[in-house]
Amino acid sequence: MMKIYHTPVLINEVIDLLDIKKEDIIMDCTVGEGGHSEKILSLVNKFGHLYGIDRDKEALDTAKKRLSLIKTNFALIHGNFADILNITKEHNIARVNKIIVDLGISSLQIEIEERGFSFKREGPLDMRMNRGERTTALEIINSFPEYEIADIIYKYGEERFSRKIAKKIVNYRKSKMIKTTTELAEIIKKAYPHKWQKIHPATRTFQALRIEVNKELENLEKFLENFPQILAKNGRIAIISYHSLEDRLIKTYFKQNEKLHILNKKVIKPTPEEISRNPRSRSAKLRGAEKL
Ligand SMILES: C[S@@+](CC[C@H](N)C(=O)[O-])C[C@H]1O[C@@H](n2cnc3c(N)ncnc32)[C@H](O)[C@@H]1O
Repeated sequence: MMKIYHTPVLINEVIDLLDIKKEDIIMDCTVGEGGHSEKILSLVNKFGHLYGIDRDKEALDTAKKRLSLIKTNFALIHGNFADILNITKEHNIARVNKIIVDLGISSLQIEIEERGFSFKREGPLDMRMNRGERTTALEIINSFPEYEIADIIYKYGEERFSRKIAKKIVNYRKSKMIKTTTELAEIIKKAYPHKWQKIHPATRTFQALRIEVNKELENLEKFLENFPQILAKNGRIAIISYHSLEDRLIKTYFKQNEKLHILNKKVIKPTPEEISRNPRSRSAKLRGAEKL
């Protein structure tokens, strides 16, 4: 039995917004375990095609098995969506008329302890979505200067106790290297005033480290600059984000680009029913645009 960890978010809303047609050439830039792609592939005919990109090889293995059960007119590509122009060139992809991007982390990445994304599961301090890349959370935590760690936690985690946390980390590492997720979570907890511990004190710091390790905002910016070049006239893009900094970037880029028409002025969010069924969808925001 194939184990699927991830539940696709805002799936019907994405399909509606993209207005998927039978002959569409679709690019899923974050195919993950193939949740959105499975549904989209079921809607196209033999003239349509789906390209699925992900920087995580393990996710692609699952997506391949899953999508093969639906149809054969798809191709999976291991790569970073920031390199979308090179990817389309290398794979001779001449026309794309629908793009989906579902940012953030997949449940597969969170659930597997050895990936090191979760403070709830003991694992190495890794957090790389692409395990072929160099920088890990271990390197940041054990070698970055205190002010830089504090800045990362403040900027990407919007964490009010960033300085206290960075100080505790640097004090601790003077005597012992910080190696595991749970070890780091304990150190953060000690830096956190008790009355503020409504959500786990490590939540924001772990999010911030993940964003830094994977250069998530830089990659998104590069993608936003480049995707209009590969999208056909009247083609559509849908982007789901989970962080206010990401949503702001998307909103701004869509607005500034004269060749794009914004499809939903008001951001689309999951219904309370979806959030109760899939709590990981709670911070999702969907925006769409059409190329003029
Ligand atoms: C929320 S998950 C996608 C889940 C998928 N839509 C589904 O329903 O199964 C996000 C995925 O994006 C991938 N990812 C994040 N940043 C990426 C990037 N810059 N380039 C390619 N893939 C990326 C992650 O590895 C992860 O698998």
